[in-house]
Order: sequence, then structure tokens, then C-alpha cells
Amino acid sequence: MNIVIVSSELAPFSKTGGLGDVCGALGPALVRRGHRVVTVSPRYGGVDLEAMGAEDTGVIVGIHAAGWVHPVRFWRVRADGVDHLLADHAMFHRNGIYGDSQGTFSDNHLRFAVLSRAALEAARRVPLDGGPIGEDVLFHLHDWPTGLLPIFLEGLYRPLGLFPRAATVLTIHNLAHQGRFPAEVFRDFDLAPRWFGPEALEWYGDLGLLKAGLLWSDQLTTVSPTSAREMLQPEQGFGLDGVLRHRAGDLHGILNGIDAKIWDPTADPHLPAAFSADDLSGKAKCKAALQKDLGLPVTAKVPLIGAVGRLDPQKGIELMLDALPTLIRETGCQVVAVGTAVAAHAAYEHRFRELQATFPKNVCAYIGFSERLAHRVEAGSDLFLMPSRFEPCGLNQMYSMRYGTVPVVRATGGLADSVENVDITKGTGTGFTFHWYDAQALLDTLRHAVWVWKERRPEFDEIRKRGMRHDWSWDAVVPAYEAVYRKAAAVRGLPTEER
Ligand code: ADP
Ligand code: GLC
Repeated sequence: MNIVIVSSELAPFSKTGGLGDVCGALGPALVRRGHRVVTVSPRYGGVDLEAMGAEDTGVIVGIHAAGWVHPVRFWRVRADGVDHLLADHAMFHRNGIYGDSQGTFSDNHLRFAVLSRAALEAARRVPLDGGPIGEDVLFHLHDWPTGLLPIFLEGLYRPLGLFPRAATVLTIHNLAHQGRFPAEVFRDFDLAPRWFGPEALEWYGDLGLLKAGLLWSDQLTTVSPTSAREMLQPEQGFGLDGVLRHRAGDLHGILNGIDAKIWDPTADPHLPAAFSADDLSGKAKCKAALQKDLGLPVTAKVPLIGAVGRLDPQKGIELMLDALPTLIRETGCQVVAVGTAVAAHAAYEHRFRELQATFPKNVCAYIGFSERLAHRVEAGSDLFLMPSRFEPCGLNQMYSMRYGTVPVVRATGGLADSVENVDITKGTGTGFTFHWYDAQALLDTLRHAVWVWKERRPEFDEIRKRGMRHDWSWDAVVPAYEAVYRKAAAVRGLPTEER
């Protein structure tokens, strides 16, 4: 099939979290199955086009929005058989993807409307080897920034006879972010008034970009089977559960994969030593090097607990901050936390710094974004902490298992689907899980995990190895997406050309 992946984040060009990882890894996995894949994502300020080997396609399209014609230029990077198109517009050249230290950008509706329009124009007009990918394509959309694309398709392009067979699949990575904007910005989209209606963009008097995408995409997916069920209920539906129940027959839960080349403990350029399930000795070297880097005492006698991620209420930060002081006092364990918060949650950054100040010999809080450190933490830690309040999928627990670092997670969403609770009497399980969103439940689970690490080392090593041997690769996941693509294609009569 001809597939166009459209996303506000796409690694290695842009990433704030798992969305970037997923969109970056999906394309190459689809190409390995014989599909033709183009991606369209913004060229943000920090992207070094030369270092990425980007070529100027010479194509500049004018997009009408908010009373202006917005010129968008396309850069092209070809990698792993995928054509990546980076949409270049002055609105993307800022220090941040959705916002900066002052808060969220106020024109995000316009920035991402331009992205959706740019993706439609790119399919028709950007020549690749042998011409543009064309109108007979499936658009694979991701989260609210792409929610307008099916509306533009239906409201601006199909009335002109364009894209008659194009199909759309929208993947929900995070229902908490809905792209809600004041009603008056509707005029910026150049759509006929009927698209501001409850059956399209209107959402409780505002505009809901994700909501519109949920109603108008041909098929929907989310990133784990448990999340697909959870989001149909009011508790985890973030107000959209009614809309989702309406589309329940078209919603599919597919657990994410991981990029098995980037996250490979036998060949990871960020690590001081390689290791595998058959030979864990390199992992001890990774731990010592990490302790040294972080300025913590270099010792094999205490467990090192890692955490990497956005400092956001979603991630159960409150539970961590409540449970860790007691655990550190009781067990002498070490903790490394790597993360950043958006302006609204900056208090979390201070609280982690305070934790480090209280326990300087046990805690290192690295407030910043570092890909290299994330790899070194996954490799050098014994346990990995992810007590999320909700977690559509979560990638870090899978990276951890691949690196022999045993996850401690709350059993919700994709964490419940990927981590099997340990039972040391039966010799089963890949991590330690708990159910109640409660600091005491986390503390008890961590106590148990640390006890197994200290007192039952052979069993602990077996837990590590079980996680390491699991296949988390995208190649195992892609057939499930193909099945959804075929359903969407059937709705529109889009040719799928079976391999
Ligand atoms: P989410 O998408 O909700 O943020 P995931 O677990 O799916 O959660 O993915 C998070 C991704 O972002 C992982 O690749 C993780 O390593 C990365 N990440 C998040 N924060 C940081 C950081 N401060 N430094 C390096 N990598 C980070
Ligand atoms: C989201 C979710 C996370 C998921 C990621 C990639 O940001 O919070 O759970 O792993 O998207 O799908």
C-alpha cells in the first residue's frame, strides 16, 4: 500500500515522548513488509538539515489559512527506505514543539492545521523518485495535531474531486491531549460553516480537533488493547468516551513495538559495555559507569532504580515523590530520575531537585532531555519505575525489559499488557506490578522488588532474562496495522495491492 504517516513528532527529527519514537519506527517496519511510505512532519527550529542529509525538494506550496497564504517548503530525507518530508514554515521555527518555558503556543491550532494541509499537498505535489506518492494513499494520523486532516479531506479536497479513494486511520496515543481551542479560531481553517457543528469540530462550545478526527477517520487505533477498553469508560475516557463508544466497532488496540536497532543492549553506542541475556557481565559495568557519571557512590551493594520520562501527572510523579524517601531510608537504594516538565508542571522539577538535596548520596535528578542518558539509565539500573496514573502504552518499560532492568509499574493501559507480575515461587513474570493508585501500594511493591534483588539474586536474574528474551520489535506488530489499513481502504475503495 501507499502510506503517508503524518505526525507532529517523528524521531530522529523531533520528539518529546513516545509519539516521536513510534512514528519514527513504524515507517521502516512498513517498508520491510513491502509498503511504500512517506512521512510528513514539521521541520522544527532545532533540526540540523545538513547533519540529517536533507535535500531541498524545491517544492513550495501556498496554504490558505487565517487570511494568509502560508508558504511551506519541503525538505526530503531518505532513510531505511522511507521518504521523510519535513514541512518548513516559520511558525515551526521555535524553541519547543508545543510550547516553551512561557507556556503552550497560542497558535497551535494554526501550526498543526498547516501541517495537515501540507501533508495533503505533499501527497499530490512533492515529486519523489518517479513522481509524487499520489492521491491513492492511506493517511496514518497521530493524535490531535492531525485531527483536522480528515475534515480538510472531506470539506476542501473531495468537493473538488481530489483524493476520492484516500483512506484515513487515526491512532490515539494520548487522550489527555485533545487539541481544544476557542470557537472563534474556526475562521482560520477556511472551512464552510457546517464543519463547525457537533457532528464535526464543535466540542462543548469550543473546537475539538481530536474529537473531529475521531468522528471522521475511517478507522481508529490506540496503542494497547487494555487502553482500547479503558477509554470507553468515563474514568479513562477524558470526556471523549461517549464519542469513542459511538466508534467502538472501528477502534482497535494494538500494542506498540520498539525500535530493536536503536534499543539493543548488544550494540548500543551509548553504553560503555555490551551485554545480552546469555552474558549479563557488561550490565554491571554499565551500572558502575552510570553511578560514576551521576556522582553517586560506585557500588554493586545497593540497587539502582531508574526513571526516565515527562514529569507530568500522568506518570505518577506524586507517588514516586511520596514513596521514595521511605524506601531510600529503609534500603539505602540509589535513584536516578531523568525528565523535564512543561511550564504548567515546573513544580515537579523543583521537587526532584529537593529529593536530591535531601539524599545527595542516593539520588541524582537530571532535569533535561538526554537521549544518551536515557540509554545509560535503561542499561545501568536494576529496577525501572513507572507508577503511571494512566499509560496508553508506555515504551520505557519495554526498553527496560530489553535491557534486563526489571520494571516496577502500575497495572494500567499498556503497562498491564506488557509487564507480567512476578511470582518467584512459580518462576514467572517480567516485572513488579500493583493496582491501586496509592503511594503505599507503590512503596510495598518497591520493598518487595528490592528484597528479591537483595535476597533472591538467581531468581532476580531469571526475571531479567525473561524480559530480555521477549520480542518487542515492530516487525511483530505491523501485521495488526495492516489489517486495520485494509479495513479503512475497503471503506473508500482504495486499492491495497496485496504483497
Ligand atoms: P510518553 O509518550 O507518554 O512520554 P513513553 O514511555 O511512550 O511515554 O515514551 C517516552 C519516550 O520519551 C521514551 O523514549 C523516553 O526515553 C523518552 N524521554 C522522555 N523524557 C526524556 C528525557 N528527559 N530524556 C530523554 N528521553 C526522554
Ligand atoms: C503517548 C502515551 C504513551 C505511549 C506513547 C506512544 O504519549 O502517553 O503511553 O507509549 O504515546 O504511543
